[in-house]
Amino acid sequence: MIKIENITKKYGDKIAVDHLSLEIRDGEIFGFIGPNGAGKTTTIKMITGITGYDEGEITLNNIDITKHPVEAKKTFGFVPDSPDMFLRLKGIEYLNFIADIYEVPEDVRPERFKSFAEKFDMQDHLNEDLQSYSHGMRQKIILMGALIHEPKIWILDEPMTGLDPKSSYALKEMMHEHASKGNSVFFSTHVLEVAEKLCDRIGIINHGKLVYCGTMDELDKMFPNESSLEKIFLEMTSGE
Ligand SMILES: Nc1ncnc2c1ncn2[C@@H]1O[C@H](COP(=O)(O)OP(=O)(O)O)[C@@H](O)[C@H]1O
Ligand SMILES: [Mg+2]
Repeated sequence: MIKIENITKKYGDKIAVDHLSLEIRDGEIFGFIGPNGAGKTTTIKMITGITGYDEGEITLNNIDITKHPVEAKKTFGFVPDSPDMFLRLKGIEYLNFIADIYEVPEDVRPERFKSFAEKFDMQDHLNEDLQSYSHGMRQKIILMGALIHEPKIWILDEPMTGLDPKSSYALKEMMHEHASKGNSVFFSTHVLEVAEKLCDRIGIINHGKLVYCGTMDELDKMFPNESSLEKIFLEMTSGE
């Protein structure tokens, strides 16, 4: 469970996130949707403790991210929007590095590495440098690293970007499986079709403000004359 209460984040005079409140429940996939610059990444950086906030409170499984950052960080796995890091490491070195940080016992690692590598078609690449990976492959190795300590909460910033259809399908299946075990999955996207099919609930953010939070069905009922999420989305996020 992720609880965001009345969060505000300013960059200088600019308000990037404006009194945002959200609750991501156990057992649900929650899609966080909004146009470029809406405040999705900023919100995710606050939830994950990468950046602070000016007002409000955030807890992950009831642990406050600013008061108990290390404990809170153990509860989630995070995939950032840019996978370009640790490029000098080989895939397997990266996975072991992350497994060390999260204190994953050595005896369970080979099995987890193998099963993730198979899911994402990475078996033949674990001994290559991340430098030589494509964007999608970097995305996949970071995803594998983020899940290696079997976190209850998954937080993913634009996770489908750059994934090929097979990997994207595998990820969506994994998200379903994870949520069905009573865990939370929170991800951002500007790709509406993904959210439409995958999510139990969605939140729409525009100019740092939450403009909608609920199920797709409820949203459809609010806009009986619009045929697609795309049109509803454009209507909700157009103008001021
Ligand atoms: N480090 C930063 N310094 C100043 N402004 C920032 C910074 N990061 C983001 N912003 C601004 O905050 C707003 C929200 O950005 P962001 O959260 O990245 O949006 P999204 O992920 O929805 O595309 C944008 O107007 C962006 O320019
Ligand atoms: Mg972003």
